[in-house]
Amino acid sequence: MYRDPSRADSSPYSSRGAPRPTILKNIATYEECRGQGHGRRLVEYIFEHYRDRCRVMVVGTGDRPRILRFYERCGFAASHRVENFFLDHYDHPIFDCGERLVDMVYLRKEF
Ligand SMILES: CC(C)(COP(=O)(O)OP(=O)(O)OC[C@H]1O[C@@H](n2cnc3c(N)ncnc32)[C@H](O)[C@@H]1OP(=O)(O)O)[C@@H](O)C(=O)NCCC(=O)NCCS
Repeated sequence: MYRDPSRADSSPYSSRGAPRPTILKNIATYEECRGQGHGRRLVEYIFEHYRDRCRVMVVGTGDRPRILRFYERCGFAASHRVENFFLDHYDHPIFDCGERLVDMVYLRKEF
């Protein structure tokens, strides 16, 4: 989890009063343990831990229906998409379950 490190103060709000997003990145569960609810419990724990410290949490992920559904079931809602993110930011192809990732899809949760 991180906030923009270039920002000096740790308030969840900007000086103009807008909520600063907290970014959720790169969660993973052991492959042999997937589909047993551990991922969802991890996200619920993160929500509980950050509930009083952030107003908006954002997660970015590849455009994969299973992962998007996972985050939606955890309480995130679709936010926006950055086209060609995985083509523009990596010097090698990125695959998930045999499918090449192209766009980054962002979801958000408000507390
Ligand atoms: C996404 C991830 C963290 C979910 O963890 P998990 O322990 O399987 O989560 P849960 O058991 O609580 O939820 C399972 C749900 O996640 C979805 N899911 C997404 N990717 C999956 C995968 N590779 N294997 C199994 N389920 C997956 C399933 O659709 C499942 O929903 P269902 O019950 O309708 O079938 C895990 O699949 C993972 O580590 N994936 C690889 C890393 C990754 O893609 N992380 C996200 C980066 S933003």
